Amino acid sequence: MISQTLREARKFEEVSEKMIAEEERPAFHLSARTGWMNDPNGFSYYKGKYHLFYQYNPYNSYWGPMHWGHAVSDDLLHWEYLPTALAPDEFYDRDGCFSGGAVTLPDGRQLLMYTGVIRERQANGGYTEVQTQCLAVGDGVDYEKYENNPVLDERDVPEGSSRKDFRDPKVWQEADGTYRCVVGSRSADGSGQILLYSSEDGFRWQFKSILASNRNRFGKMWECPDFFQLDGKWVLLTSPQDMLPRGFEYHNGNGTLCLIGDYDRETESFIEESDQSVDYGIDFYAMQTLLTADGRRVMLGWMQNWDTCNHRRENEEPWFGQMSLPREISIRNGRLYQKPIRELEAMRRNKVVYEKLVFSGTICPDGIRGRRVDMEVVIRPEEGCDMYRKFAIRFAQNEMYQTSLSYRPGESVLKVDRKFSGSRRAIIHQRRSKVFCKDGALKLRVILDRFSVEAFVNDGEQVISAVLYTDQAADGISFFVDGTVNMDVVKYDLI
Ligand code: FRU
Repeated sequence: MISQTLREARKFEEVSEKMIAEEERPAFHLSARTGWMNDPNGFSYYKGKYHLFYQYNPYNSYWGPMHWGHAVSDDLLHWEYLPTALAPDEFYDRDGCFSGGAVTLPDGRQLLMYTGVIRERQANGGYTEVQTQCLAVGDGVDYEKYENNPVLDERDVPEGSSRKDFRDPKVWQEADGTYRCVVGSRSADGSGQILLYSSEDGFRWQFKSILASNRNRFGKMWECPDFFQLDGKWVLLTSPQDMLPRGFEYHNGNGTLCLIGDYDRETESFIEESDQSVDYGIDFYAMQTLLTADGRRVMLGWMQNWDTCNHRRENEEPWFGQMSLPREISIRNGRLYQKPIRELEAMRRNKVVYEKLVFSGTICPDGIRGRRVDMEVVIRPEEGCDMYRKFAIRFAQNEMYQTSLSYRPGESVLKVDRKFSGSRRAIIHQRRSKVFCKDGALKLRVILDRFSVEAFVNDGEQVISAVLYTDQAADGISFFVDGTVNMDVVKYDLI
């Protein structure tokens, strides 16, 4: 049975979607069908298609009553919208269906696990939020909420843990057929922790352990955990709120954290070895992964940030929020590496190549422009010349606008600057990042898709993501150097 709330959302999105022209959206990044989008949810492969759900308020371009939007794809790049999957329509989720994951059941149905939110009246007249974990089962289009929801509540958290901050289950199946999930929680000291639960059948869940504890080191509450094995290591991803910057790490307030280490199956605890940001740009949060049929671990995130999403004018925009490019991830030398999914290569057209281009000042090489672009740039100092002082790629450029990636070899700092990208708000527009380059050599792969830039540094050692608001007519690309460099460029349009 489809509830009134869900029926209304489905009807509304079908009509409003038609008001948005194709060119007003990213071409190959999933954006809100209409209204508002935040976190990726239920990122999965089911019945021969990739499924991506998302935190969704169809009714306007602001965060509001959370539904789960839904889209499917064959290649993770071209998405087809499906009707809203979940609406806040039950007594245990009436104030929101928050983030969660998806897994396939032995009988072929898909199980969604999500956080149900209610605002509860307190004795003093105020309200507090209560979060529980809930299930819905479906066929890839329609989902029915489980009759015994919620399946995890305040009785299933360790002593002293918050009932307000208990959310974002990420569920997976173990080799023995049983299920596990990790959930973000807050312990008595106000700090984040990740709880591990297990289930024989996906429906009855038991608390296992506190998998990892923040102990107030990386921000406060830990949202949207994901936990998996990768290249012989165990990786815990989470998005901490209220982070303090540390050197060049963790500058985003609501940041991203990748912990690499080991997993002690005896004590069911994670053993941390190293920590780093997942993305070093401005807009990236709440990432989630899936395992493809051919064994690739693919990650994507919400290409926004809670601290920078306030750039809109009231209700002027019919949609807000897009996902990052799906990225194949791996561990190399104890660090997280990310590469654009290889399916992107099938979209490459109009190859333009420059080799060993030696220049000073500004150049705009023929054939290099556009807003849907895949461009690889390699620079090195020119032999016999002094070390250059600054190199920059400027794009989404005309007389009025430009966004830039600039690199200073003296400090080994790469900066993204989108001050002149159409934003009318005084939000963060720059981010500096330490990169690991030697002797002035830098390799960048820059992906543009109308309203965003994602720069993969040195074969994916770091990624810098930012959204742009620039008018599409600004499609110039130029290169600048203070000094002299020797540069290779390979550029494609993405069509
Ligand atoms: C992360 C988050 C999640 C929550 C959702 C609500 O961005 O705050 O923790 O489930 O967004 O929309």
